[in-house]
Amino acid sequence: MTDLADELQIYGPDPEIEALFAELISSETGRTNPYHYYARFHSKAPVYNSSFGAIIFSRYDDCQRILRDNRFGKEEDTKSRRQERAAALGLSEKELQEATRFFEGRTSLLFLNPPDHTRLRSLVSRAFTPRRVEQLKPHVEILTEEILSSLVGEVDVMESLAWKLPATVICELLGVPVELRETFRPLIRTAISLIEPNQTKEDFFKSIEAAETLTLLLTDLIEMRRRDPADDLLSHLISVQDGTDRLSLEELISTSVLLFMAGFETTTNLIGNGLYALLQHPREFESLFNDLTNIDLAVEELLRFDSPVQFDMRTALTNFNFGGIEFKRGQPAMTLLGAANHDPTHFTNPEVLNLKRDEGPPLSFASGIHYCLGASLARMEGRVVFSKLIETFSSITLVDKFPERRDSITLRGLKSLNVQLERR
Ligand code: HEM
Repeated sequence: MTDLADELQIYGPDPEIEALFAELISSETGRTNPYHYYARFHSKAPVYNSSFGAIIFSRYDDCQRILRDNRFGKEEDTKSRRQERAAALGLSEKELQEATRFFEGRTSLLFLNPPDHTRLRSLVSRAFTPRRVEQLKPHVEILTEEILSSLVGEVDVMESLAWKLPATVICELLGVPVELRETFRPLIRTAISLIEPNQTKEDFFKSIEAAETLTLLLTDLIEMRRRDPADDLLSHLISVQDGTDRLSLEELISTSVLLFMAGFETTTNLIGNGLYALLQHPREFESLFNDLTNIDLAVEELLRFDSPVQFDMRTALTNFNFGGIEFKRGQPAMTLLGAANHDPTHFTNPEVLNLKRDEGPPLSFASGIHYCLGASLARMEGRVVFSKLIETFSSITLVDKFPERRDSITLRGLKSLNVQLERR
């Protein structure tokens, strides 16, 4: 690990790296193979001073330090940020305010800084425990078996498995009644694109509408569980207490919406990206077919190799010196998680998929106080899905060599993944 006492060498702005970054986030080639671009960052500009104000970090150690340093935090909702967001969407500030009025005061823990984050996270963690995740495992196994039992021949794994399973698992976790689950799934899928920086105006309004409907449905469900508690996460979130402190109705709503949004497409992409990586590396895939004992390490490697979340942003909360760099309050720091996972100073031959790699966790779930609350659930789902696929099918082969990617940059995933399945 590089010592932060060593000054960080900051590089840029440089038109070549600027063009590289623009291509990474906005071109088809950037989306298809960001790792080619990250390698260029590692060799030429591991700490890059961009012309748009953010400092971009691509090394594992630097990204981890930023995520663990509480002088960095979530961007405060300033006037200039709102103006930037409105301009990016082609809206006036007033129009943006109108469109998002419904969500005012509903702050989710993902966007909070201490002390508000500390309080809310501690309450939510009391209800969303490792034991609850462990209890869910037999259900996840049954749900996976049910889905796989109907699959044979040529199948789009994204549609028939990767989208279906994680949404059903979160519904099961929170206690959404079975008859409402088909209503929830498309709403979550549409609402989640709110986190994408390159959203169009039309998509933005569709996402807002979906998030509003989701919120209203969850409000009804919370009311129902208040009257009639069950053994599900929502009922536990309603009753959780720290001394006299409890979650308010607004916090219950924003936390449940967050669990849906944070836990759905990310896990979908773990399944899709992971299976695609295995199909592109038949020898490694075969080793898993022969022996599932190292499934934990294998899932860790799939998370590293093609991470479902590629970028994470932080903002300097004050003026301070970080490894020789003078950060000004409000200045953004961008951590390229996908690049950190391919940092050659941290992982040996990072471009090689090695299912037995044991070099510590990737940064796919971030680090520090916002470390993914659902990491153990996501890992468990990944282990169950890849094990069950191997136990159910004698062969899984790729039909489309170059499957289409989703048009998103923060969340990395496939639109479809057509495979040929032979049952055992
Ligand atoms: C492979 C699947 C997943 C990946 C790659 C992933 C990744 C991440 C990352 C990178 C963050 C940090 C975001 C930030 O720092 O701004 C995060 C936060 C979070 N994740 Fe996940 N996630 C996954 C699955 C899940 C699941 C299944 C759930 C729950 C059902 C979940 C719930 C959360 C929550 C609540 C946070 C916010 C934590 C906080 O701000 O304190 N995630 N996740």
